[in-house]
Formats: sequence, C-alpha cells, structure tokens
Amino acid sequence: MTRAVVLISGRGSNMEALLRAGLPVEFAAVISNRAEAQGLAIARGLGVDTAVVDAREYADREAFDARLAEVIDGHRADLVCLAGFMRILSEGFVERYAGRMLNIHPSLLPLFTGLDTHARALAAGVKLHGCTVHFVTPELDAGPIVVQAAVPVLDDDTPESLGARVLAQEHRIYPMAVRWFAEGRLEATQDGRVRVKRAVAPAGALVSPAG
Ligand code: GRF
Repeated sequence: MTRAVVLISGRGSNMEALLRAGLPVEFAAVISNRAEAQGLAIARGLGVDTAVVDAREYADREAFDARLAEVIDGHRADLVCLAGFMRILSEGFVERYAGRMLNIHPSLLPLFTGLDTHARALAAGVKLHGCTVHFVTPELDAGPIVVQAAVPVLDDDTPESLGARVLAQEHRIYPMAVRWFAEGRLEATQDGRVRVKRAVAPAGALVSPAG
C-alpha cells in the first residue's frame, strides 16, 4: 500500500479530509513546521503519528530541508502531500520527491499563484474561481495539474465567503487525486501534463454496460 506523509502549517482541514477519506493509503505521519499548528491535534486524534520540524532551529533553508527529508524518509513515504504547508522548498528537496509530491492550491492555476488568492480573484472580477491539485516542481505553484474544481464567484462574495466555497471543493478533490496516485492512475505525458488513466476493473469483476 502507498505510504504517505502530510505536511501542514496550520488548521489542517485538507489533511483531515485526506485522513478521513478512507483512501487505500497508509498515512505514516503528519509533519508540521509549526508546533502550534492546530492540525497536529486532529491528526493525533485520528491515530496518526505527528512530528514537528521547526525552521527556527536550523541555520538555513538547506539545513531545514535536509532534516525534513530525513523525517519523511524515516517514515518510508512514497508520497508527500503538502496541505497548507507554508514554506518555500529548496530545489534539491523538490527534486528528491519529483513525481511523488502533491500540493493543493486555492485557485484555478495558472491564475493566482502565491498568497491571498480569493481577494485577488475578487479584485480581478473573475466569475469562476476554484482550486487545483498539482505535482510540485521547483517553480512555485507551477507543476503539472492533476485535478481542478471550479466554483461561481457571487456578486456579494467576500474573500471569506469565496474561500469557504473553494475549501469545500479542496476537501473533495485532494482525496480524489491521492486515490488516483495510490491506484497508479496518474501518468505524465511527454509534454509534461498529467493524464488520469481509467480505472481497471479487478479480474473477474462484472462490468455493467453502463460502465
Ligand atoms: C488551503 O486553502 C490550501 O489550499 C492552501 O492553504 C490552505 C490550508 O488550509 N494551500 P488547511 O490547513 O488545509 O485547512
């Protein structure tokens, strides 16, 4: 079974959605760069190991990333899920987990990379907004897209109301993407996109004409 770790910095609602989704995944640990992240208690409550790697205890980004990789590899993780992990990762770290590190971002990428995506979507006047699960590459929020969900932007939306509508979709699509990864259904195309292969019915399973 795929072994995964989830990296968080705060609330941890996406992490909780992953842990509760009944995925064919062994969640080996939840790791935070902040000891006060609320998500750590949620993870422990769900019986998952937690660890803290506090950046303030390391001299520089390389030292922090090296320790983080040590903790991740100590859990023998096949998959690293970033879920509100508020750290820029070094290129070496990203390369180490190439093709097996996913992130959830609260916009329809490539629009609105970076922070404050809901306020920026409102300011831009877009009528659709949403969220994206993508593989992580060295360029921020720019890796191959696995799945997206869109929501309408309403005339009276605030960043908070719009963010809440998007978050509900995040909780739906992140488990979906992790399931596809675990099922071996994510395939990189020659030109750097992601294709989701169809589910293969187990041998002997009855496939109805409706598919
Ligand atoms: C989410 O909106 C996620 O898309 C972004 O950070 C937020 C984290 O929220 N990367 P939570 O910690 O998962 O509740």
